[in-house]
Amino acid sequence: MTHRKPLIAGNWKMYKSVAAAVATVLELKPLVSNANHCEVLIAPPFTAIKTVADRVEGSNLFVAGQDVAAEGAEGAFTGEVGAEMLREAGCTHVIVGHSERRQFYGETDERVARKARRALDAGLIPIICIGETLAEREAGQAEAVVERQIKESTATLTAEDLIRIVAAYEPVWAIGTGRAATPEIAQAMHHNVRGVFENVFGSEAASSVRILYGGSVKPENIAEYMREPDVDGALVGGASLQPDSFSKIVFYNRD
Ligand code: 13P
Repeated sequence: MTHRKPLIAGNWKMYKSVAAAVATVLELKPLVSNANHCEVLIAPPFTAIKTVADRVEGSNLFVAGQDVAAEGAEGAFTGEVGAEMLREAGCTHVIVGHSERRQFYGETDERVARKARRALDAGLIPIICIGETLAEREAGQAEAVVERQIKESTATLTAEDLIRIVAAYEPVWAIGTGRAATPEIAQAMHHNVRGVFENVFGSEAASSVRILYGGSVKPENIAEYMREPDVDGALVGGASLQPDSFSKIVFYNRD
C-alpha cells in the first residue's frame, strides 16, 4: 500500500488579528518543529497569511488559504482572492468547499471543482471538503450526499491531479458541536470516498490520496481517528487556535 504521510491541519476560520496570529505561530513553531511523522499546516484568515507565512519560512509549518477565487489570476471580482495571490503571499495549500462556505455562502460542487482546478494550476494543493448535514444523515443519505459531493467537486481533475490533492470529510453535525463522529463512522465514510476515487481515477491514485477527518477533533480523541486505516490526518477548527492543544493533536502518537 502506498505510504500516506499524515497531515494535521488547523483551520483558524474568522479568528485572530494579525498580532494574535503572529503570537500563536511563534509559540506553535518550536512546539512542532520536530514533528517528522506528519505534515503540519495552519490556515489563518486572509489578512494574516503573509505575516504568518513570513514568520514560518524555513520551518516545517505549511500555510493555507481558507478559500480561493474560482476565476482567473486577476480581474474585476470584488472581494475575491486569486490562487496566484495566495501563492505569492506564502501559501502552499488552500481549503476549498468548506461546509461553512457551502452552508452560508451558497458554494456549489461545481464552483468547488473550479476552485480546486485553479488552485492546482497555480501550484497550490487544494484541500477539498465534503460532509453531510444532520438531516441528511438522519434520512439515511449521508453516503449518497458525500459521494455526490466528492465526485462533482473533483470533476475537473485527472488521476495525476488526484495524487496531489487532499480530501477532508467533515460531517456538518460534528463541526464545532463537541459531537465528534465516532472513529467507525469516519473510517466507513473515508473508505467510501476512497472507493469513489478508485472508480473514477483508478486504484493507484485512490490509494495515494490523503483523506482527513474534521469535526470536534481534540487532543483527547485524535489518536483513535489516526488508528483507522483510511484516516490520514485531521482538519481541526477550535482546538487549532491554541498552540498547546494543536501541538498535542500534532503529537497524537505520543502517550
Ligand atoms: P471544529 O474542530 O471546531 O469542530 O471545526 C472543524 C472544522 O470545521 C475544521 O475545518
